[in-house]
Amino acid sequence: MTLDVKFVESQFPALRGREFVYLDNAGGSLVLQGVADRVSEYLLTTSVQHGATYSKSQQAMEKVAAAQQSVMRLINASRPEEVIMGPSTTALLRILGIAIGETLSPGDEIIVSISEHESNYGPWELLKRKGVKIVQWTIEPDSFRLDPQRLASLMTDRTKLVCCTHASNILGTINPIREFADIAHAHGAKICVDAVAYAPHRLVDVRALDVDYYVFSFYKLYGPHHAVLYGRYDDLVALPGQNHFFIEPTRTPYKFQPGNVNYELSFGCIGINEYLVELGGRGGKVHKDERAAMGEAFDLISTQEEVVCRRLLDFLNAVPSVKIIGEKTADARLRVPTVSFTVKNLNSAKIVSAIDQYNIGIRYGDFYARRLAEHIDLEKDGVVRVSMVHYNTTEEIDRLVERLAPLLS
Ligand SMILES: Cc1ncc(COP(=O)(O)O)c(C=O)c1O
Repeated sequence: MTLDVKFVESQFPALRGREFVYLDNAGGSLVLQGVADRVSEYLLTTSVQHGATYSKSQQAMEKVAAAQQSVMRLINASRPEEVIMGPSTTALLRILGIAIGETLSPGDEIIVSISEHESNYGPWELLKRKGVKIVQWTIEPDSFRLDPQRLASLMTDRTKLVCCTHASNILGTINPIREFADIAHAHGAKICVDAVAYAPHRLVDVRALDVDYYVFSFYKLYGPHHAVLYGRYDDLVALPGQNHFFIEPTRTPYKFQPGNVNYELSFGCIGINEYLVELGGRGGKVHKDERAAMGEAFDLISTQEEVVCRRLLDFLNAVPSVKIIGEKTADARLRVPTVSFTVKNLNSAKIVSAIDQYNIGIRYGDFYARRLAEHIDLEKDGVVRVSMVHYNTTEEIDRLVERLAPLLS
């Protein structure tokens, strides 16, 4: 079975006509009609406050609870209390950093990978003020990969936490998170994973990955500007919260949501599951449950993504002046279709603006992975990044290649 492109197109209003080729999906994906409908439904039909005894208030709370359940199934958490929703990955990791920081002592160590978006680096770096030691985990110079053996060599009996991306928003490489988690756990440490650049491409399974903290943003996953942080129930109960003093320690996620969660955006996220279930079910196969259908959807998604990614990489790998920053192969087992490159003697900003005139949106920069950019000596304008998802087509990549070819030759 292949991806039902017509169905996919019908679900994203911004794809109608396809005049503009959108290849900045790692910056933020297009939004599903079903998500927008649910956000509007909540706003227009649920104009009451939570926490009251009147039935309208109870119904409003049920809607947000349903969203919580839906995200729980999307990531395969064990219970809704493990699902903390918030405004962004950056904000949620900051909240987690403050909470974990309160449990650490001077001399404790946190290992942080160099390939992080700053949102999974800065909160840990700030803990240096408390005497916590930050140990930098660098990538391998030729492959740009994070190596499990290097991680193992950095672990000590003071290591409390390992922080890394599931896939870097520049390199595109998929990291072997289960292996990293096993190494961390063998030393009694926890692992905190930024999955922002991964979640739009594969079905997340926090239990199979055995991760302790896992975070991503829905606006990269066809949804609203809203994000989720997963943590194990017992760990979340044990961590100090940041809400009012009378919010009991067991009231997770509320204790990590000072000022409350955004109701309408939470409710909108239900539209993501609905889309994935429908997409996975279009082959006519009967799935045993929602996750099985979503699993099928992501099989179709990753197959399509590998095709478009290969089209681009075949071209780029054949241009001698191009250096791929990240995985050179399109193999879906190794990478997501976020492809970055630099060109010898050609400024990244110039390439992007030259392409812009053809109604094609690509992007340059360090994408807030500033430490990685410095580590690999990227020039000021950073890489050119072409970030694809399943709704991108080979025709769109051909349009890009046609415009890139004369520039790079
Ligand atoms: C890999 C990665 N992590 C974290 C973030 C930050 O996400 P948010 O904008 O939700 O804070 C981004 C945003 O681009 C990202 O690409």
